[in-house]
Amino acid sequence: MSNIQFRTNFDGIPHLRSEHTQTPLPEPCHGQVLVKIHSVSLNYRDLEVVEGRYSHHKGGMHTDHPICPCSDMSGEIVDVGPGVTEWKQGDHVISIFLQAHQSGQVKQPFMATGMGYPLEGVLQQYRVFPASALVRKPAYLSHQEAACLPISSVTAWTALTGLQQVRAGDWVLLQGTGGVSLAGAQIAKAAGARTILLSGSDAKLERAKKELGVDVTINHKTTENWDEKVLEITNGVGVDHILEVGGKTTLLKSFNCIAFGGQISAIGYVSGKEPDPQTPINVNVLALIRNVTFKGILNGGKDKFEDMLKAFEANGIRPVVDKRLKFGEGDVKEAFEYLKSGGHFGKIVIDVVV
Ligand SMILES: NC(=O)c1ccc[n+]([C@@H]2O[C@H](COP(=O)([O-])OP(=O)(O)OC[C@H]3O[C@@H](n4cnc5c(N)ncnc54)[C@H](OP(=O)(O)O)[C@@H]3O)[C@@H](O)[C@H]2O)c1
Repeated sequence: MSNIQFRTNFDGIPHLRSEHTQTPLPEPCHGQVLVKIHSVSLNYRDLEVVEGRYSHHKGGMHTDHPICPCSDMSGEIVDVGPGVTEWKQGDHVISIFLQAHQSGQVKQPFMATGMGYPLEGVLQQYRVFPASALVRKPAYLSHQEAACLPISSVTAWTALTGLQQVRAGDWVLLQGTGGVSLAGAQIAKAAGARTILLSGSDAKLERAKKELGVDVTINHKTTENWDEKVLEITNGVGVDHILEVGGKTTLLKSFNCIAFGGQISAIGYVSGKEPDPQTPINVNVLALIRNVTFKGILNGGKDKFEDMLKAFEANGIRPVVDKRLKFGEGDVKEAFEYLKSGGHFGKIVIDVVV
């Protein structure tokens, strides 16, 4: 049998290439399983990896050999190594993002076990996994849907059920209509919370209301002072939770409209990583004077993932799949370009098995 996989040299989307290996498929060793990958979803991080912009260390990427990108997949176990008791051939499984993050808070050494960087990723037909680095796919979800969960949904889940658990009646602010924000909206609604969602597109805001039941929408392009609008909507109180994915241009506004004692979850930086010279801020003071919890969120452990799957199944939550593309060079490049354009609403999926 053969394996086709995509590889990147961190030099951009045009240079993503597929490689066909004719060698026999790897045999899983002790404690491992071989998975036939059915679907892969893209994350903002995968784009950063492919463009050589992703690193948790100063000084750029810390691997100089090409890598198979992407972390999130759903597939089927086709071979089981010795010592594996929890899985059998034919089980349907989803990958977890940091293979070593089984439970509790993320620890620094776990970062070395990130799928799709620094470990080999899932944009391929077959991959060996440690048996512990997978969760069971719920039967009600398709592989396309299940592949959307590991990074976006688990991160939103950790933010909303970690230090401060979202409660019925809370206000939750989501920024944009990417994977994390839409998952956050679904989780908040299922908990009985009220949601405010920002987007730069009226069409996307309309979809968010219609398809996800988001309570209030604000176009952050036409309402530049959206923080004031949020305060107006909440009678001057502010929101209880903010999933902060904007970073550079959104953080000060988030501090302006967080409720006293609320939580801002620092998740992403789609508006830029570097400080914004227009809005110099002192996070220390901003958090202190309103008793705000400012919490960095790095995905979530396997325990969080399994809790989330139970809650999703009980509430019939399905991740929003915006577009599905095929596992060919043209389609894969188009999928990454689409992610880069920001035109998507929810998740972009690559069907490895058609
Ligand atoms: N910490 C973690 O564990 C973790 C996990 C997942 C993701 N992240 C990070 O979280 C961020 C979002 O991830 P994602 O996968 O949801 O991304 P995504 O699917 O690419 O979505 C990003 C969305 O943000 C909005 N946006 C783009 N530029 C913006 C700007 N300048 N200001 C405000 N909104 C803007 C856009 O929505 P509209 O078109 O609707 O405006 C866009 O669709 C990324 O920075 C990612 O690296 C972190």
